Amino acid sequence: MKIKQVAIIGSGTMGSGIAAHLSNADIPVTLLDLKTEITEEAKKRILNSRPPLLMDKSKIQNITAGNIDDNFDVIKHADWIVEAVVERIDVKHQLYKKIFKMKKNDSIVSSNTSTIPLKILSQNLSDKDKSDFCITHFFNPVRYMGLLEIVKNNFTNKEKINFLKSFCETTLGKGVIVCNDTPGFIGNRVGVYAMQVAMTEAFKMKLSVEEADSIFGRPMGIPKTGVFGLYDLIGIDLMSDVLKSFTKELPKNDPFHIVAKDIPLIEKLISKGYTGRKGKGGFYRIKKTKQGKVLESLNLQSEEYFPTKKIDLKINKVDLKSLINRDDKYGNYAWSVLSKIIKYSSSLIPEVTKEFNDIDEALRLGFNWSKGPFEMLQEIGTGNFFKRIDNFKNNRFLENLSKNKNENFYGERQKYTNIQTLGKIKQTPLKIDKNDSAEIFRFKDYNIVEFTTKANALDYKSMDALKKATDKPLIIINESMQFSAGVNLNYVMDFAKKNDFKSIEKFIKYFQETCKHLKYCKHPVVSAPSGLALGGGFEVVLQSNFVASHNNIVMGLVETIVGLIPAGGGCKELLWRWSQTEEGKKDIDYAPLKVFEIIGYAKTATSPEEAIPLMFLNVHDKKIMNRNNLFTEAKLLLEKNKNFIIPSECKFKFSGAQVREKMHKLLEKLYNDKKILDHGLEVGKELAYVLSGGKTDSKKELKEDDLFNLELEAFMKLIEKDKTQERISHTLTTGKPLIN
Ligand code: NAI
Repeated sequence: MKIKQVAIIGSGTMGSGIAAHLSNADIPVTLLDLKTEITEEAKKRILNSRPPLLMDKSKIQNITAGNIDDNFDVIKHADWIVEAVVERIDVKHQLYKKIFKMKKNDSIVSSNTSTIPLKILSQNLSDKDKSDFCITHFFNPVRYMGLLEIVKNNFTNKEKINFLKSFCETTLGKGVIVCNDTPGFIGNRVGVYAMQVAMTEAFKMKLSVEEADSIFGRPMGIPKTGVFGLYDLIGIDLMSDVLKSFTKELPKNDPFHIVAKDIPLIEKLISKGYTGRKGKGGFYRIKKTKQGKVLESLNLQSEEYFPTKKIDLKINKVDLKSLINRDDKYGNYAWSVLSKIIKYSSSLIPEVTKEFNDIDEALRLGFNWSKGPFEMLQEIGTGNFFKRIDNFKNNRFLENLSKNKNENFYGERQKYTNIQTLGKIKQTPLKIDKNDSAEIFRFKDYNIVEFTTKANALDYKSMDALKKATDKPLIIINESMQFSAGVNLNYVMDFAKKNDFKSIEKFIKYFQETCKHLKYCKHPVVSAPSGLALGGGFEVVLQSNFVASHNNIVMGLVETIVGLIPAGGGCKELLWRWSQTEEGKKDIDYAPLKVFEIIGYAKTATSPEEAIPLMFLNVHDKKIMNRNNLFTEAKLLLEKNKNFIIPSECKFKFSGAQVREKMHKLLEKLYNDKKILDHGLEVGKELAYVLSGGKTDSKKELKEDDLFNLELEAFMKLIEKDKTQERISHTLTTGKPLIN
């Protein structure tokens, strides 16, 4: 079997998302809908999507638009036919009739249904046709969500399923879990149950929307949208349909029914058009006032909106044991929700899956939880759990565990894949060194550093770990969503508020020293970023010797947004890269002007394809489709570069005042056009000073340390300004930039 051409029917949210992702992998796709105009519209939507579904806009060429009447012939040639039309069984059945009449022998057909059982979808097919049919359940947005569930039954051809699994893993980069034909498969069965428990318990315990989301969120290793935020994001009406379908499909005694009962408030919200973010609002809404936009939340008792209240539980790290043992309503809520999720998940073994590990992985890949229910159980501790839990009759998994009291029942991770992932390798080091901000996994021939702070923001201790780990070849990689969102601005602001600028200077110097060390120490350093690699996080990547980058990456030097400039070698390294281009070698001002534009506008790349033209990545850096492969590829890079030659230090020449003048002209125009204000102008001038080489001229040669010094000087000048601190505080509290 091979997959060289794909036909997708239905160009809505999912069909267009799957088409976009296949085209990212350079697989030609024909996208069909009722009319070609609908498919053409879908192509436009793909091009303008945020976050972008395409890794590069040119990929759109891989998609041909058509309609099911004039262009159905494509089915004859397609190796894989994906049905992603509306969730209506009659429409789907009609389509299958046509598809199976026309498809070639060795092709495979799949439906993207989220709720209709495979048995019902395929009920009118011959046994032979059933063997070529399965469900491929992608998650939205397709490019970014790791999970793909392939649902099979006894009729499905095993070889074809294995082939499709391997194709989707390797070519599309998905974490593929093969599931039995049970309602909601694995991800939604447990994920939606968990949401419903989190919601119904919040109602029962009279927690506010913000309170529930502040517990059923980051403190549990769950995305910060929590439950009410996630309801708004998915669509309250859509969630209601999903629940109806579960209620219809699940046996009467399934505990799902208890948490899926109609909630009058939800019915009211839907009927008034409060369907979530796509509607007038939902559990949260944005209210426009004269003072600006205000985020409000719904009071679950009075059913009125009030400005949201920030709930600060002072929890910086996921620590489930402490969380469930808190002697307050938050601790009670956490235990109540978690224990029910663990109880329900374990009741699904072995009918839904024999492998409890697959449930955890489905939650991690499909709902972005950092740990699934069973890993949570292991963290809480078997003994602790059974001391508190009541009544688990007929739950064979828990009955066995309570008998053998195994505190270490978990075993291997990520069983769904044969890839040697970071998650697996992390279980086998010779030694682990830890501080509050990072962990070093020490192996015989190399080390791994994984940052461990919120969004992997960097501070003194992160740098300390990097430095200590360079006694061997080093891989910098992480399992959490972000590689690093940059320097920890809270950490910097704590010093600034105390006027302790000496400590900030000390930190920045250490940051610079560490980044320089990464580049020039005697062992090779590989960064393997995924998610955000911004600001300081990106400076770590920039100064690593080799990079294996995930295709879903956002990288860039975005410091100017908060009124700062990159000071960990970001200016220096980009200047070097651009000065080595043909134009850069010819024209002394070329590199400074290019970098001025890139850093000044805080340009970001949302894929390696976009990163290369900005010189954020080199053409020889590795681009990796499957995040699970990052570790293996990074390790390969180390092995290939065993005889690594330490790079020689960069030397620079700049025209100084001459190029600075050109930059100032650009700034003046922006200022006169009111694109930047007073403080923006000051930041721009500091950046110009660094990128022009300061007090220099074309005859003088500058060393890397000279540029590090310029970066530090400018950074210190800016951080001492009230306006900068105001901008940083605003960004930290609102998550949005302040223009001043
Ligand atoms: P949608 O409503 O966005 O798009 C459905 C598309 O199918 C529309 O463009 C419609 O014109 C087209 N269509 C309807 N009848 C057709 C026919 N006879 N021939 C060709 N095209 C036809 O729906 P969405 O959200 O993309 O869902 C598609 C499937 O994916 C459904 O089965 C749904 O349950 C499933 N799903 C949806 C997810 C989501 O988050 N939206 C997630 C996972 C699965």
